[in-house]
Amino acid sequence: MLSEYNPYLEYREGELYLEGLPLKGLAEELGTPLYVYSSSYIRDRIRAYKEAFPGALICYAVKANFNPHIIALAKEEGAGADIVSGGELYASLLAGIEPSKIVYAGVGKTLREVEYALESDILMFNVESYMELDVLNQVAGKLGKKARVAIRVNPDVDPKTHPYISTGMKKSKFGVDIKEAMREYRYAGSLKNLKVVGIHCHIGSQILDVSPYIEATQKVVDLYNQLIKEGFNIEYINLGGGLGIKYKPDQSNPEPKDLAEAILPELKGVNARLVLEPGRSIVGNAGVLLTQVQFLKDKGHKHFVIVDAGMNDLVRPAMYQAYHHVLPVIKSDRAHVKVDLVGPICETGDFLALDRELPIMERGDYLAVLSVGAYGFAMSSQYNLRPRACEVLVEKGYHRVIREREEYSHIFDVVPPLKG
Ligand SMILES: Cc1ncc(COP(=O)(O)O)c(C=O)c1O
Repeated sequence: MLSEYNPYLEYREGELYLEGLPLKGLAEELGTPLYVYSSSYIRDRIRAYKEAFPGALICYAVKANFNPHIIALAKEEGAGADIVSGGELYASLLAGIEPSKIVYAGVGKTLREVEYALESDILMFNVESYMELDVLNQVAGKLGKKARVAIRVNPDVDPKTHPYISTGMKKSKFGVDIKEAMREYRYAGSLKNLKVVGIHCHIGSQILDVSPYIEATQKVVDLYNQLIKEGFNIEYINLGGGLGIKYKPDQSNPEPKDLAEAILPELKGVNARLVLEPGRSIVGNAGVLLTQVQFLKDKGHKHFVIVDAGMNDLVRPAMYQAYHHVLPVIKSDRAHVKVDLVGPICETGDFLALDRELPIMERGDYLAVLSVGAYGFAMSSQYNLRPRACEVLVEKGYHRVIREREEYSHIFDVVPPLKG
C-alpha cells in the first residue's frame, strides 16, 4: 500500500502524484534526476513526535537532509536541530533554528567548528572523548564562554540494524563506554569552562524494534541516578534518533507513539527534559527520486535498465545494499520482467535495485525511487563529474525548487583559473 510509505503519494488514473502534483509533469519541467519532497509529510512527522513526547525537545537530525528549506519546515513545526559539523550549524542557522535548540555531536569536531558553535551559543555539545573535553574547555576559556556539555555514552546495546549504522555498541567509535562514564563526568565537572548539563546516547539508525531503546534508556537512567547522587545537575536526557522507516513493501515500522510507549515509563521519576534527534523518520518517506530510462540492455538472461540516476545521486543501495522500492511514474499493463536497475557510473556497484520485477521499460520512461528523503541527496556526490540533482518541495499542489540543478560551471566555481 502506497499510503504506508507516504499518505500523500498516490496513483491517480494510473499516474503517480505527490501532494496533489503529477510527478511526470515535474520531471518534464525540471529534468531528472530529481528529488521531490512532500512538505505536509514532514510537518506531520514532527507533529507525531511532539504529540507522542509532550514537553520534549525534538531536534531534527540535519544529517538526514540538510537542505535549509527542509530544516526551515522543521523549525516552523517547533523543532530544533541535531548537528554533526560546522556546515550543519551554518545550514541550521540559515534556516532560522534558534541556537538554544541546537545540539552538536560528532567524534571529530575541529577547532574551527568548536569556536563557531561556542560563538553561536548553541544549547549543548555532545562530547565523545576526554580529549574533546579538554579542547572544548580550552577554547571556551579563550573565548570567555562556558560550554554546556552532555557526554555521549555508549550503552553497548545491539540495535539490530545494519552494522554500518549501529553506533551504540562497545566496538564502535562513538561515545564513551557507559561503565567509564562516571569518571568522565567527574573530569568534566572539574573543568572550569564547562557546565555539565546532560546525558547523550544514540544507538543507531533504521531501528525497527523498540526493545533496544528500552535497554539503552534503562542504562541511561541508572547513570542519571548516579550523577544526581553525586550532585550533578542533569537538565537533559538525549536519547538520540534512529527510529526506522518503511523501505520494503512487506515491512512494518514503529511510530513515534510506539517509541513513547516503550521508553516513557522508564523515564518516570527523571527530572530532566527529554531530547530526541530523529532524522530518517522525519524526512525518509517524504521524498522520491525521479529518474529517466536511458537505455535497455540484455545480456543473455540478464536484463539491465540503465537510468540517469546513479550511486552519486543515491548511494544507499551501493553502500549498505539498501532496498528502495521503485515504481513506474505512469502505470502500464506491460508484462513484468526481472531487471537490474543501474546507473551511468563506472562502478559495478552502481545500482538502485537488483533482480527487481518491473514492467517492461522503454527509453524515456520515468521511474520513482521511494524512501529517499533521508541520506539521499545528503550523501550524494559529483563522482564521475556528474552535477548533483535538483531538489523540489511540494506542498498542497504547489512546488518550489529548493536547490537548482548543478551546472558544470558551479562545480568549477571554487577552482582557480588555469594559467596560460
Ligand atoms: C548522534 C546522532 N543523532 C541522530 C541521528 C539520526 O538518526 P536517524 O536518522 O536514524 O533518526 C544520527 C544518525 O546517524 C546520529 O549519529
